[in-house]
Amino acid sequence: MITPNSPYDKFVSGDKSALSAQQIRGMDKVAELGCTSCHSGAAFNGAGVFQKFPVNTDGYLEAKFHFSKDKGVAEVSKKADDEHFWKVPTLRNIALTAPYFHNGSVATLDEAVKVMAKVQLNKELSKDETADIVAFLNGLTGEFPKQTLPTLPATTGKTVN
Ligand code: HEC
Repeated sequence: MITPNSPYDKFVSGDKSALSAQQIRGMDKVAELGCTSCHSGAAFNGAGVFQKFPVNTDGYLEAKFHFSKDKGVAEVSKKADDEHFWKVPTLRNIALTAPYFHNGSVATLDEAVKVMAKVQLNKELSKDETADIVAFLNGLTGEFPKQTLPTLPATTGKTVN
């Protein structure tokens, strides 16, 4: 993994203090709701499978975010059965990768979580449930490798120092 040691990784390897009580509630909720039926596995990406999105079309959300405008896999395969199938994205580092969805129409993680519960699972989340899930998702942010910028060698006679 490129970004290891997220609070979640520390938690599953035995450090029970790595996630807060709220994050643990969120983690349990994600499993209980069935988010992990698609976002499964170590990277929460269903090992790269394609799934339908939106499963349930919601008039209000459609008018606001136009999720069904693009046809997903069908645009490439030209098969009707592939319409609105998208690659299940990883949830790792998700707090850092706004905006969300294939068309980048959703600006915040909070809204993305509510959208997913509604259109994929037909569930309305309460404010607290949403906040718990968002807290858990923040616990999936790992440590990034240190980037060192290359330094150009000094050009003799040209650099001042
Ligand atoms: C039926 C399968 C399925 C279920 C269930 C599901 N998702 Fe998703 N999820 C997807 C797919 C497919 C996408 C990509 C949609 C797109 O690109 O427009 C996605 C996208 C997302 C995104 C945006 C990712 C990004 O990088 O833009 C988040 C956040 C997310 N899901 C969280 C959840 C949560 C939380 C739940 C449970 C409440 C959930 N998902 C349930 C299939 C699912």
